[in-house]
Amino acid sequence: MIQLKPMTDEAYKSFTELSMLDYAEAKSRAERLTLTEGHRIAHDAWASLLPQGQQTPLHHFYTAWKEGQDIGMVWFKEERDWSTPYGYLYQVWIWDEFQGQGLGEAAMKALEMKLKEIGLPRLRLHVFAFNERARKLYEKMGYETTNLVMVKEL
Ligand SMILES: CC(C)(COP(=O)(O)OP(=O)(O)OC[C@H]1O[C@@H](n2cnc3c(N)ncnc32)[C@H](O)[C@@H]1OP(=O)(O)O)[C@@H](O)C(=O)NCCC(=O)NCCS
Repeated sequence: MIQLKPMTDEAYKSFTELSMLDYAEAKSRAERLTLTEGHRIAHDAWASLLPQGQQTPLHHFYTAWKEGQDIGMVWFKEERDWSTPYGYLYQVWIWDEFQGQGLGEAAMKALEMKLKEIGLPRLRLHVFAFNERARKLYEKMGYETTNLVMVKEL
């Protein structure tokens, strides 16, 4: 049983550093950019998304706990100004040593329950095409593809 508990300030600080670095690497890999460009995009994205850091309204940061162990995290934003309000998942992360044991799926289920409890009947997310592990997880859980971005070198 996974529990999602609000992140401490300390956990937020280390998560946000890790997450920005990971995003910069993933973005540059997926979009065929340099790592420097990836870092710039990550820096700008964080500044515009989270002007007040962890306290930015509508953003929620949780640590995922299992039997007293910190096994990962989730970050989502409430989007309510739509005919069907939704949560937008910015990150789900199961720490390396806990991956492959069904905990990613369990964390997603816990998140889905939390969203329903706070009146958000839909969950949207973005996943990089190369992230097969995450794509498989979402597909297995019933998520459908709504957009595809394509590229060709000319
Ligand atoms: C993506 C992530 C959350 C999955 O968590 P996990 O605990 O490893 O996944 P689970 O053990 O719950 O596996 C659930 C499903 O994911 C898929 N999956 C898990 N590991 C996989 C692998 N190595 N290769 C392909 N699919 C895999 C499978 O469909 C699996 O279901 P199955 O075991 O019935 O086949 C985790 O790998 C992670 O945190 N990755 C780094 C951060 C990240 O990429 N987050 C997603 C951002 S969009």
